[in-house]
Amino acid sequence: MKTLLIAMLGAGIVFQTLPETSVTENRADTTLADTTKKDPETGLIVDENLYMIKAQCTNCHSTKLITANRFTRDGWKQKIRWMQANHNLWELGDAEKPVLDYLEKNYSPTASAARRAPLKDIKWYKLEQN
Ligand code: HEC
Repeated sequence: MKTLLIAMLGAGIVFQTLPETSVTENRADTTLADTTKKDPETGLIVDENLYMIKAQCTNCHSTKLITANRFTRDGWKQKIRWMQANHNLWELGDAEKPVLDYLEKNYSPTASAARRAPLKDIKWYKLEQN
């Protein structure tokens, strides 16, 4: 009799703790979903043209001016022209295309990094109609 009571108590504890555990696991999943790699030195998103940005855009000011902004390719081009006209930025020459490729890909208004990661493991269900 005593053993049965202890067994029932034990089962009760398991029942109560189970739902909480699964909620915590779900939360961990969504936190891990942001896999964008950032360069530790500059905070810039890592991709194959990052070295161009490091060479052309880090001499005069913080890279925060880049990471805090979202412009279209044309918008970035205008910023570059503006710095060339007013702030002694040099002609980028052959570097301009990879620089703009990088900025458009990672820091445009529609860049994937500007959005949250897509939801995973969505369980769809049918709505019943009366
Ligand atoms: C020769 C120096 C120099 C270089 C190199 C340079 N900038 Fe700038 N940039 C400036 C100055 C000066 C400002 C104005 C800073 C301020 O307002 O505090 C500025 C401002 C900016 C801003 C803010 C513009 C705004 O509207 O507020 C952005 C974005 C920017 N730079 C991006 C870049 C990018 C991208 C590159 C690489 C292609 C780059 N900069 C390279 C001098 C430079």
